Amino acid sequence: MEKKASSFSGQIGFVLAAAGSAVGVGNLWRFPYLAAKDGGGLFLLVYLMLVLTFGFTLLTSDIAIGRRTKQSAIRAYETMRPKWKFLGILTFLVPVLIMTYYAVIGGWITKYAAVYLTGQSAAAAEDGYFTSFITSPVSPVVFALLFMGVTAFIVYNGVEGGIERVSRYMMPILLVLVVVIAGYALTLRHEDASGQMRTGLEGLRYYLTPHMEGLTVSRFLQILLDAMSQLFFSLSVSMGIMITYGSYMKKETSIEKSVSQIEIFDTGVALLAGLMIVPAVFVFSGGDQSAMQSGPGLMFQTLPKVFDSMGGGQFGQIVGALFFLLVLFAALTSAISLMETVVSIVIDKFHVKRAVACIIVFIGMMLLALPSSLGNGVWSHIQILGMDFLTFFDFISNSVIMPIVALLTCIFIGYVVKTQLVVDEVKSSSKFSREKLFVVVIKYIAPIFIVAILVSSVLSGLGIITI
Ligand code: PFF
Repeated sequence: MEKKASSFSGQIGFVLAAAGSAVGVGNLWRFPYLAAKDGGGLFLLVYLMLVLTFGFTLLTSDIAIGRRTKQSAIRAYETMRPKWKFLGILTFLVPVLIMTYYAVIGGWITKYAAVYLTGQSAAAAEDGYFTSFITSPVSPVVFALLFMGVTAFIVYNGVEGGIERVSRYMMPILLVLVVVIAGYALTLRHEDASGQMRTGLEGLRYYLTPHMEGLTVSRFLQILLDAMSQLFFSLSVSMGIMITYGSYMKKETSIEKSVSQIEIFDTGVALLAGLMIVPAVFVFSGGDQSAMQSGPGLMFQTLPKVFDSMGGGQFGQIVGALFFLLVLFAALTSAISLMETVVSIVIDKFHVKRAVACIIVFIGMMLLALPSSLGNGVWSHIQILGMDFLTFFDFISNSVIMPIVALLTCIFIGYVVKTQLVVDEVKSSSKFSREKLFVVVIKYIAPIFIVAILVSSVLSGLGIITI
């Protein structure tokens, strides 16, 4: 990101901006499908524990590094230790990879916003609608192009004015809507073909109960890896974004308080999004495991049914349109911060004009997004390690590169520049009540834990060990 002359106005300004980047598709789309897939309450428990330890530690480090060096990620590590320049470069890879499939999901959301705005809510609720859309060769690519085009246009014109002002209203409205839909989802009742009645409250129980039955070591490891990668993705840590945001933070703003507020906000939205989706899938599928495990399509397959059941067609149509428009907005703000990061680095490195950089990045991203989009349909026969392209890009960025960046950050802070550097930065504006926890997690717990999860999951993924 280009250096802004101004910095965030204070605590609220900083927290809102950081939450704007953090709250996005990760909370609304990714978190609920992982919670449904990974045994409901068990995933929630593991995730919450990670937020309070890893999330807190990594977010604090990223923001403190940014504020201390006043540099974006690619330069921050180099400024502190020239030999660690590679970590900045590795960090830069993450937004590039994420962008390639964020564009595809953004396209899906754009499509659904268009579907609801043009009055096709009943069609969207039909079984097979989503699948036939994502497997078609043209439509998803066109919508991804549209989504990326708008993102590139905004990044070219500058983010400051409109978007930031609008997001102050959109985010709270989105939150209220999520609460309302979640409340409604709990009142759902549905009778399946065999006459069995399922209710939203039973769905809630499924969402909150830790399901231990049939739990094996390898499955537990899988859940840990899922929760850890979700944590990095959702909080926008270990990808340089929070370092850049930290570099705009004023000296007087409390890092510790900001970190707590961002965590509460981000996790709160994720939990609510799960509440809106998981009980509803349960009601409509009768707890059928293959439906609960359906992954990336969950939001697009379940919510249309919820809207459809809202009675009187019209009403569900309006709620659906409003919902997908707001999600589109949340996705756009996150996509903008991803693309802005990449564009500013291209400008810095190649000394090109902003317009040229935007065009280069747009074309490059679209080319990279193509496999993720077509991988659901015409290229579905191509599998990498048993995954389609979108799942593979998601896996490589969130479950491999981000944990590696996080691990290297822990080593860098814990053993190279030493934890005192971050502690001093935090204490320069407030007290640091979780200092001991921070030091223990960053020096010992996080590195050991990350290595253990990474190694075992990679080895078992490659079939080298069976756990
Ligand atoms: N944290 C965002 C989400 O949960 O959707 C994803 C994201 C946005 C990651 C922006 C990185 C970023 F720069």
